[in-house]
Amino acid sequence: MNVTLRRAEPRDVDFLLELMTHEDVDPYMAVIRPRDRDGLLEEIERSQSEPEEYGRFVIEVDGEPAGLMGFQVANKRSRIANLGSLAVHPSFRGKRLADEAARLFQRHLVFELGYHRLQLEIYGFNERAIKHAERAGFIREGVKRKAYWRHGEWVDGVLFGLVREDLEPKP
Ligand SMILES: CC(C)(COP(=O)(O)OP(=O)(O)OC[C@H]1O[C@@H](n2cnc3c(N)ncnc32)[C@H](O)[C@@H]1OP(=O)(O)O)[C@@H](O)C(=O)NCCC(=O)NCCS
Repeated sequence: MNVTLRRAEPRDVDFLLELMTHEDVDPYMAVIRPRDRDGLLEEIERSQSEPEEYGRFVIEVDGEPAGLMGFQVANKRSRIANLGSLAVHPSFRGKRLADEAARLFQRHLVFELGYHRLQLEIYGFNERAIKHAERAGFIREGVKRKAYWRHGEWVDGVLFGLVREDLEPKP
């Protein structure tokens, strides 16, 4: 299985639309993420026009689209990026694909784009994604208690971070 990442292109919009509206993806994504064609195309265009500050990447398996990952600059001066929009299409689940994709993404953001810190937030009920983040080397840094109104109740946001030193070999 050859897992690769590439920047999303307008031709990916049909795949991304199906992915983001899937019943085993949609409930786990932040409400603000687009689930419509125009919104997704806007994100793809922004990723192409501001590549250092914004990104939408397609995860591919042997050249076939299998998922999505995204980032956005959070603090330019301190070189912090927020990660988000992670989803693996259900037909590619069960292979821990996101773990490998996350490692490729971390290295690209830190060593190629020069970010010093990557951070992300996962709904407290999303145990599957929390386990994935821990396996992928993100460090759990805290919890925003009952921060978001989702599925009819207040849910936690679990915070994860990774800094450049975490990826460098220990002396
Ligand atoms: C999170 C996600 C990207 C991980 O995808 P993936 O790398 O394909 O992960 P897998 O399907 O291989 O599952 C990873 C592990 O979680 C386990 N798992 C499945 N459902 C689970 C659950 N409800 N709770 C805990 N673990 C679960 C799997 O059994 C597997 O463990 P194993 O390898 O020991 O059997 C994918 O599940 C997804 O797209 N989810 C919906 C969107 C989402 O939650 N995005 C993150 C938003 S922050």
